[in-house]
Amino acid sequence: MKQQLLDLFTKRYACHLFQADRPICAADIAYILEAGRLSPSSFGLEQWKFVVLTAPEQKLALQSACFGQSQVGTAAAVVVILAKLAEMDPDSEYARRLLAREYPPSQFEGALKNYRGFHAAIDVKAWSITQCHIAAANMMTAATAAGLDSCAIGGFDPDEVRRLLEIDPARHEPALILAFGHCAGVAGEKQRLPLEDLVEYR
Ligand SMILES: Cc1cc2nc3c(=O)[nH]c(=O)nc-3n(C[C@H](O)[C@H](O)[C@H](O)COP(=O)(O)O)c2cc1C
Repeated sequence: MKQQLLDLFTKRYACHLFQADRPICAADIAYILEAGRLSPSSFGLEQWKFVVLTAPEQKLALQSACFGQSQVGTAAAVVVILAKLAEMDPDSEYARRLLAREYPPSQFEGALKNYRGFHAAIDVKAWSITQCHIAAANMMTAATAAGLDSCAIGGFDPDEVRRLLEIDPARHEPALILAFGHCAGVAGEKQRLPLEDLVEYR
C-alpha cells in the first residue's frame, strides 16, 4: 500500500496531448470526482465546485481560454474547479451548515466567531483557490490509479473562463482546470529535486 501510493505519484505526469478519439467512461470520471470530494479542506468548508466538460465544442472553446493549450481540446474530459467565494461568508447558510457539521452544538458559536475573524483577516479568494488545489492533486492521483493520464492547467484567462462558463464572479473564481484522458505521448523521466535539497530537520 505504501509503495503503491508512491508508485502512483511517480507514474503521474503532465500530459500535453491526449488521444482525442479515446473517451473515458462515466465511472472513471465519477471515481476522479469522488477523490476530489473526499479531500481535506480548511474548516471543512469544501471550497470546490467541479464543472465537467466532455462535449468537443465546449473543450475547444475552453482551449482558447487556456491560450490554445491542446491538452484541453484533446482531453476526454475536462474538469474546471471553481473556488467558492460567497458561500465562504460566515453569515451564509452554506458556511453555517458546514461549520455546524464540524463542531458540536456547544462549540458552534465560538467556532463561528473564530471563523468570522479568520475570514475578515485573509484573502478569501486565494485561500479558497488553495483548497481547490488540494482536491486537484487527489483527483490527478486517482486518475493515475484508474489508468488515466492528466494535466493540471493553471495557464488560463480567468475572464474568458468566467465568460464561457457563465460564472457569477461574486460566487465563484476559476481555480484550476484539469484535463483527463489517454496521453498521446509517453512520460519523460521524472524530474524532481532530491529530498536533501528540500528538507531541513530541526
Ligand atoms: C497548479 C498547476 C498548474 C499547471 N499549469 C499547467 C499549464 O497551464 N500547462 C501545462 O502544460 N502544465 C501545467 N502544469 C503541469 C506542470 O508543468 C507539471 O506538473 C510540472 O512541470 C512537473 O511535471 P510532471 O507533472 O510531469 O511531473 C501545472 C501544474 C500545476 C500543479
